[in-house]
Amino acid sequence: MPRPDGTVRYDNRDRVILVSGAANGIGLSICRAFAESGALVFGMDVANSVAAEGIHLIAGDTSDESACAEAVAYVVQQAGALDVLVNNAAIQPPNSYVRLDELSAEAWNRMVSVNLSGYTFLAKHAVQVMLRQQSGVIVNMASGQAHRTARQVPCYGPIKAANVLQSMQWAVEYARHGIRVVSVSPGAINTPMVAASLAAQGGAAELANRHPLGRIGQPGEVAAAVLWLCSSAAGFVTGTDLAVDGGLGALGAFADPYDPIG
Ligand SMILES: NC(=O)c1ccc[n+]([C@@H]2O[C@H](COP(=O)([O-])OP(=O)(O)OC[C@H]3O[C@@H](n4cnc5c(N)ncnc54)[C@H](O)[C@@H]3O)[C@@H](O)[C@H]2O)c1
Repeated sequence: MPRPDGTVRYDNRDRVILVSGAANGIGLSICRAFAESGALVFGMDVANSVAAEGIHLIAGDTSDESACAEAVAYVVQQAGALDVLVNNAAIQPPNSYVRLDELSAEAWNRMVSVNLSGYTFLAKHAVQVMLRQQSGVIVNMASGQAHRTARQVPCYGPIKAANVLQSMQWAVEYARHGIRVVSVSPGAINTPMVAASLAAQGGAAELANRHPLGRIGQPGEVAAAVLWLCSSAAGFVTGTDLAVDGGLGALGAFADPYDPIG
């Protein structure tokens, strides 16, 4: 008989949530989890595909500060508050998988614009609302690659490391104003971003086997961590990073590889 596994239910009624990169993958899953627990959910994305499901989609590019300001203003105009911002929109285009000496300025600048500046711009405008409220939670979606690296990723990981430090700095800045800021560092999660780079990572079975749990994660498992971090149960948690990585970060490069799966 399977043992009980400790099911959690959240009550996010009346809370107002803004998630960037909401049309796909982890962002969409976070939106759904908040919506299912009663929150009023706004998603910002350059893509335009989640009008249904109780998520209000705002079309906009997070690398454009005025678009971020407009998105936050729209949320406040519609809902009168902003309780949670999840900075999640990020890109990892094929032309970024190169050695540093081959990296184009175009690839670097675009990733900095979206993956780093986009987080700053959206948080800057969200935190202005949260300061008026004297409450709020900001989550930066970082990555296991913020903490460990590999060959041919000279942009993604270094910028993800900066996302962790952004959240620490903002947490320290606004801790006395009722605002908590954290980051989440997923391992490989089953999303379009990972599907697009599967071949470069050795295929699905190889990628799964690098995680001690022997599989990649599901977007809902990252969403569950975000819901906990944004809840009152995590009221003493700020300025820190939570790995949601199937044990990936605990496994040393010197460790014997697991036997192949299947
Ligand atoms: N999937 C993984 O394995 C994994 C692992 C670690 C960290 N992450 C991080 O999680 C987050 C989500 O990843 P994902 O796999 O769900 O990605 P995804 O590519 O599946 O979805 C990203 C979404 O962001 C949107 N987006 C891209 N640029 C944007 C912009 N400038 N403005 C607004 N929206 C924009 C895209 O349209 C897309 O809907 C990212 O920050 C990513 O770096 C993902």
